[in-house]
Amino acid sequence: MKIAAVYGFLRKGSTYNTAALLLESLKSKTECEISEFFLPKDMPNFCVGCFSCIMNSEEKCPHYAALQPIAKALDEADVIILASPVYVFDVSGQMKAFLDHFGYRWMLHRPSPAMFSKIGVAISTTAGSGQKRTNETMAKSLSFWGTRKIFSYGKAVRATSWDGVSPEMKENIKSDMEKLSQKIIREHKKHKRNPEIKTRLMFHIFRKLNKMSGWNKADKEYWEAQGWLGSKRPWN
Ligand SMILES: Cc1cc2nc3c(=O)[nH]c(=O)nc-3n(C[C@H](O)[C@H](O)[C@H](O)COP(=O)(O)O)c2cc1C
Repeated sequence: MKIAAVYGFLRKGSTYNTAALLLESLKSKTECEISEFFLPKDMPNFCVGCFSCIMNSEEKCPHYAALQPIAKALDEADVIILASPVYVFDVSGQMKAFLDHFGYRWMLHRPSPAMFSKIGVAISTTAGSGQKRTNETMAKSLSFWGTRKIFSYGKAVRATSWDGVSPEMKENIKSDMEKLSQKIIREHKKHKRNPEIKTRLMFHIFRKLNKMSGWNKADKEYWEAQGWLGSKRPWN
């Protein structure tokens, strides 16, 4: 199983350790090839809003060199993990900056065909609350990228560091990650890997929009080249 993990932090705190427990549990069940990216180290830029990616090509993004290895790992992965601590009730700034750079992949624009067979996982930890909103932010991008199945896990760890998390809480997270890894493996083993109905519905809406309006030439040409404006679909 190929896994791409994008971390909205450099600090190896509760969020990192939660994701690490999931990876450990997956590794104990199946062979895993894992690519990890730590933000902002591996992608230190903010989106400058130049629209080059959306209107022309992602290769025209001034930050393409940093983005390309991550995009490649996302495209090659079976499972994409996005993990962020809760900062003021949402994802960390570096995670948001990363997600902004992949706006060109939102379904209206140019979703990667590979995405429609993937499993996405959103993970967040918080001292008290905000995990739902934080996971929603990451899950929204996963969903609009076309990811076929999304799992979310948020935990209020009642601490500001992993060392401060109680042994009971750590056991609880470990057990949750064990269960989550079982769900991921089950999903990965499925023969039929079609996206959920919600994703397919979104695809049809954006197909219609691209077919009718073609407000963005680059998007329309992309949809046309994929065969999606005809009968072809990015799933079987
Ligand atoms: C800038 C900042 C903002 C935070 N905002 C919140 C918040 O809105 N709600 C909350 O319950 N905890 C908040 N926290 C606490 C963290 O979410 C919590 O400690 C989390 O588990 C940190 O993850 P980490 O150990 O992986 O760094 C905040 C922490 C920081 C540094």
